[in-house]
Amino acid sequence: MFDLIVRHCTLPDGRSHQDIGISKGRITALHPAIAGTAAQEIDAAGHLVSPPFVDAHFHMDSTLSYGQPRVNQSGTLLEGIALWGELKPHLTQDAIIERALRYCDWAVAKGLLAIRSHVDVCDPRLLAVEALLQVKQQVKPYLDLQLVAFPQDGVLRSPGALAQLTRALDMGVDVVGGIPHFERTMADGAESVRILCELAAERGLRVDMHCDESDDPLSRHIETLASQSHRLGLHGRVAGSHLTSMHSMDNYYVSKLLPLIKEAGVAAIANPLINITLQGRHDTYPKRRGMTRVPEMLAAGIDVAFGHDCVMDPWYSLGSGDMLEVAHMGLHVAQMTGQAAMRQCFEAVTTTPARILGLEGYGLDVGCHADFVLLQARDPVEAIRLRATRLAVVRRGQVIARTPPTVATLNLPQRPSTIAWSL
Ligand code: FE2
Repeated sequence: MFDLIVRHCTLPDGRSHQDIGISKGRITALHPAIAGTAAQEIDAAGHLVSPPFVDAHFHMDSTLSYGQPRVNQSGTLLEGIALWGELKPHLTQDAIIERALRYCDWAVAKGLLAIRSHVDVCDPRLLAVEALLQVKQQVKPYLDLQLVAFPQDGVLRSPGALAQLTRALDMGVDVVGGIPHFERTMADGAESVRILCELAAERGLRVDMHCDESDDPLSRHIETLASQSHRLGLHGRVAGSHLTSMHSMDNYYVSKLLPLIKEAGVAAIANPLINITLQGRHDTYPKRRGMTRVPEMLAAGIDVAFGHDCVMDPWYSLGSGDMLEVAHMGLHVAQMTGQAAMRQCFEAVTTTPARILGLEGYGLDVGCHADFVLLQARDPVEAIRLRATRLAVVRRGQVIARTPPTVATLNLPQRPSTIAWSL
């Protein structure tokens, strides 16, 4: 007797006609034609069942603040930073919590059940830290929220930032952040990486730095991040976010850099929606895309995830919490159109970020948490192509969101009258 059986599933690895049996919030059986009964049964009808989407890079303190106090007219990174600076003094804890919870609702509806969010610690009140720690507790039953202490204005450049960052960690923030390319000099940037990696090593924490989010080919803080991670034995616990300068770097230098990143066990998090809009802004033509070297890093054995980064905030006026939209953009920008590469793009918003976040019990194996998404698609490539409807979202064996299938009714002479996307 199971609590729930989902029958006739297709799995991301291509296995079809699979039944998933769930007891006490965990997957307890996974094979064709499970015998036995369940309190509830769902017929997946051959649709894809995937582990939930995971966003490895987000800013929940600014999300859904679009238009406050004004709209980013130029759409540039610099106007976005200026805008955030204008908004910060007027932030209230209640407003941050309300926006964050609203975004988490969007996320759940889209099958996004784990988010790593940076939270700005360059505010002596640590208002956003307190707010997001509350949100983290509140959403815990249905969404894993991991927080990164992010010194937006530079841990060395912004007075008091290191003390505030440390205080945020004391309050329960999970991960050490940084932004070395925003420090005053390259040397300060390298120093900030050393300080922050040592802090993480002392406390046994993970590291995730905004690193080299620039078109400057000489912005090479990822080299220092890899070297410090290696020196301090942080293998598997460090991520470099953005890494856009790598797009513009000298090829010979990159051929040395990638093995160092691999050796240090540092993961990369690209943010395709944001970096395709924010990078290359100083270029005339040809304009650089500005996204980091995703297929090359994957080929070197480096974990690469795609993050959403922003949704309707000073930096990005679009987005909806849909990680398939993120994967779709990443696939296009990186020209990852081969069959295996398209599947890697799906992994970049599911299994790879789950590994980077260190999520316990993630996956579709017996013993894992019964967390998954039923998609109106037959396979991961179709899911990306259609940004497929999330028919059902399951957390710990409970259906927590449903969306009706997408069906169009046509009224054309002598033509079929409906189109149901997939199957
Ligand atoms: Fe970011």
